[in-house]
Amino acid sequence: MAAAAALTGCQNKTSVSSPDKQIKVGFSIEEGVPCYCVEKDGKSVIGMSRLGLDEHKYTFVGSETTQFDETWETTWGEERKIRNNYRELIINLEDEEKLPLQIVFRAFDDGFGFRYVLPGEGEGKIYKEQTEYRFESEPVAWSIPWNTPYYEGLWTAAPLWEKTDTLCSPLALEFPDGTYGYLHEAALDDWAAQNFYVDDSAALKTYLTPWANGTSVYVTRGEAKSPWRMLILADNITELAASRIMLNLNEPCKIEDTSWIQPMKFIGIWWAIHLDHYSWAYRILDSKGRVVGLAPKHGATTENMRRYIDFAAEHGFGGVLAEGWNEGWDGDWTSNLASFTTPTPDFDIEYLSKYAQEKSVQIIGHHETGGNISNYEQQLDTALRYYDHLGIHNVKTGYVHAKLEGKEWHKSQYGVRHMNHVIRTAATNHVCIDNHECVMPTGLCRTYPNLMTGEGVRGQEWDAWSTDGGSPASHLCILPFTRCMAGPVDFTPGTFDFSNPVHPETRVHSTLARQLALFVVVYSPLQMASDMPESYMQHPDAFRFIEQVPCDWEQSKVLDAKIGEYVVTARQDRYSADWYLGAITNEDEREIAVDLSFLEKGKTYTATIYRDGDKTEWKQNPYEIVIETQQVRAGDVLRLTLKAAGGAAVRLTE
Ligand code: NOJ
Repeated sequence: MAAAAALTGCQNKTSVSSPDKQIKVGFSIEEGVPCYCVEKDGKSVIGMSRLGLDEHKYTFVGSETTQFDETWETTWGEERKIRNNYRELIINLEDEEKLPLQIVFRAFDDGFGFRYVLPGEGEGKIYKEQTEYRFESEPVAWSIPWNTPYYEGLWTAAPLWEKTDTLCSPLALEFPDGTYGYLHEAALDDWAAQNFYVDDSAALKTYLTPWANGTSVYVTRGEAKSPWRMLILADNITELAASRIMLNLNEPCKIEDTSWIQPMKFIGIWWAIHLDHYSWAYRILDSKGRVVGLAPKHGATTENMRRYIDFAAEHGFGGVLAEGWNEGWDGDWTSNLASFTTPTPDFDIEYLSKYAQEKSVQIIGHHETGGNISNYEQQLDTALRYYDHLGIHNVKTGYVHAKLEGKEWHKSQYGVRHMNHVIRTAATNHVCIDNHECVMPTGLCRTYPNLMTGEGVRGQEWDAWSTDGGSPASHLCILPFTRCMAGPVDFTPGTFDFSNPVHPETRVHSTLARQLALFVVVYSPLQMASDMPESYMQHPDAFRFIEQVPCDWEQSKVLDAKIGEYVVTARQDRYSADWYLGAITNEDEREIAVDLSFLEKGKTYTATIYRDGDKTEWKQNPYEIVIETQQVRAGDVLRLTLKAAGGAAVRLTE
């Protein structure tokens, strides 16, 4: 690649510019190797970088440019309306055997995307995607290693070229000139998830997650399209978070009637299981998997579920999740042979689903597959139809096992195919998915909005059972710019009791006020309030915020942030003129000044503020919270003190 690497700049290349002309993507072929480069505001951001699949050499056949501009409405989201405005350049190439390859570029005002399309006919295999990124200046990158189990790691920051691990997509980037980037993929469907590594020449290269047999991607020409490789380029952190390129690069909604897809907050027989208060298992198994008795503390019982449904109905929650009622699972993580249509004898699902419906609450089902895909796929359609018949329109899926079927990575093409098959089958059965142990989201929820949320994060559950003390407060100040930008996150905020009887040294690093702020900072249209009803009843005044905060938004703005240090987010309710604000900090106490100019001019709002008190301290005194009201107007500045690992939540009503 020396020849291509030596060329710089997008001059004299076939190129496409963003509608505002600030971003320019150039394309050329150097000695048979397709290359691209990128400029922003007349400055080179990415020098000539290689493209292509495997070792093929290509010749140029032709190109065409088009443009597109539409504003579309989300089924649910951080925004009701999204503008999709880009210019497109389609490059047609041919390899040595005259097989066609298209590279399609889209330039947006806030970044760009490109993908490979394989026209023609016939089956093939891809071993190596050659896509690379030769950044002109070295950004700081926030990343996790590519093989972090289920992406449940702590993101670390370092200069990109010093990173020696292979890294997961996405990467959050901060360039030396203070601008930001977000490198990820969009519309991952029937391809392998991408990863990155830095080579000796400081090029960031692509590594596709392989099948166990070493192939990266099986392709059928005529259908095969890589996901979009995309980079957001933003002048500041607010613009970075506001970019909707990833959703725009996905296809429009394919579900005709979306009326059954309903954002909601939910509670669950769940945190109590993670704290060992209850068990998933109905039966006790010995080390050989033989049943030796009934579990004394089974959580998903008819009686417990009724109690949770009653609580949900009383406090305005739309759903209740119950885990551990699939016959045959019994908390066996290794060879899961669960039946997804037979409840355990102590969980009367027919009765409970009627009971829940009478109370206008939905039961959220649970499919823990343990990675046993064949067992799950055999039952998938029947199980989802059964749920539809019961009026259950939400299922949390799980894949707790290092490899699917004992051998394939979750984010290989095998895993991607399976997860997307579940989403499509669920869509035909009117079931929404909360995908745990998922593939990193890539915006497919635009096309299939029944893909409501997912994990792919070191969520709050780690603070129940990890032996490392719990996630540091900085973790949540990084996530909004890494995992959260890839799609909704089932982070499970809302801990109201910070004691941990099983691992007293591990806890949620948080004050009570910060737990409320997370309902605004972390977006999910299925938003769990994770603690037990009895914990919520210990702090009914603070709980009021959780009862009131919506989870479907008209618009959202990150007002201020420094990745890893603090985040201030404001969102407007989709169904009223009310705004909600969440602010959190890392391990450092800080004062923030929130500019309220996002409020409607000329109107007075009542701000109900939930904040850390003077003596609040996350380990010794986390529950102290000040709840106060104040009249505010657009242009006012709200000053808030966030204690270490603390936060503030504000409801602004007209
Ligand atoms: C791990 C998931 O993250 C957690 O939420 C779930 O409770 C367990 N697996 C059981 O499926």
